[in-house]
Amino acid sequence: MSLLLSAPGWDLAAWAGRISKRAPGRRLQVAPDRFSGPEAVDYVLTWNVPHGLLSTLPNLKVIFWLGAGVDHLLADPNLPDVPIVRVVDPSLTRRMTEWVSLQVLMHHRAALTYLDQQRRVEWRSHNHPMARDVRVGVMGLGELGRDAARMLTMLGYQVAGWSRTAKTIDGIDCFAGADGLAAFLARTDILVSLLPLTPQTRGILDYGLFSGLARDGVLGGPVLINGGRGKSQVEADILRALDDGVLIGASLDVFETEPLAADSPLWAHPRVIVTPHVAAESDPTDLVDYVLTQIETFEAGGALKNRVDRTRGY
Ligand SMILES: NC(=O)c1ccc[n+]([C@@H]2O[C@H](COP(=O)([O-])OP(=O)(O)OC[C@H]3O[C@@H](n4cnc5c(N)ncnc54)[C@H](OP(=O)(O)O)[C@@H]3O)[C@@H](O)[C@H]2O)c1
Repeated sequence: MSLLLSAPGWDLAAWAGRISKRAPGRRLQVAPDRFSGPEAVDYVLTWNVPHGLLSTLPNLKVIFWLGAGVDHLLADPNLPDVPIVRVVDPSLTRRMTEWVSLQVLMHHRAALTYLDQQRRVEWRSHNHPMARDVRVGVMGLGELGRDAARMLTMLGYQVAGWSRTAKTIDGIDCFAGADGLAAFLARTDILVSLLPLTPQTRGILDYGLFSGLARDGVLGGPVLINGGRGKSQVEADILRALDDGVLIGASLDVFETEPLAADSPLWAHPRVIVTPHVAAESDPTDLVDYVLTQIETFEAGGALKNRVDRTRGY
């Protein structure tokens, strides 16, 4: 049973080396340079595969998406009707939790203000509320959102979460669906989005939503943190909200267009932290092992884990 690796922009030689080391008996093709036998491909391991390529593989059995968010894949108009498996991996989850915790603490402990003062050699202290007085709201209570929410409760924050379907999670106030959104926002000082990109979440982080966030919090205004997908946010609305005080800060790892344009005002905005889509990634060796273990289980008649539901879009 043979494999095709397609991940534009990645160091494919290194990935091919890892795969061959873990599964030396399998034929491995690498697109586009070492790809000559589409009919021989049983499994694809891919990130951002060019649209149309998958439909040229007549014997494809499973698509392994080497990331967590499958919006690019599902947008392929010729996507073959085979199972899609996405990454759920402790190293990726924990890295996202690190990034979210860092950003929440940065805004809570006024890091941008102190960095600015340091540059100006200014010795001045500000008010520091306790974490227990800060309300964090996590949009998306999936693999990533749940882990981040739990860590934030351990740090002492009052944590709530919002998801599509109702949940019960110890220590976290859970809200769900369109009906639960207004109440969730109204109790939130720091909003963290870990939503996938779907037709329902595209553009959801807009001025109207920011206007629904709590105005009575101890930080003096609400903060947005987005580690999910850039097309869930309306960047013009983030800038407008920052400029008129509807938001007092933002941390963004993802953008409407990536890389973020050099002339985007977000780069130099004094209240914005920009990171270049680096919040969370998997350890490559763990990822190869995850995929090849799933292939072995599948070939032995077992079930694939972490399958994407095409109708819900994640
Ligand atoms: N920045 C980075 O480096 C990076 C890295 C990895 C992933 N990501 C992004 O993070 C996203 C989340 O990953 P994950 O593994 O946590 O995904 P997941 O396990 O599929 O969880 C998605 C969560 O979002 C909720 N959701 C989806 N649509 C919704 C809607 N319309 N309204 C309310 N809630 C909705 C789901 O609700 P239910 O629980 O009710 O289904 C679920 O709780 C990925 O899709 C990807 O875009 C970013």
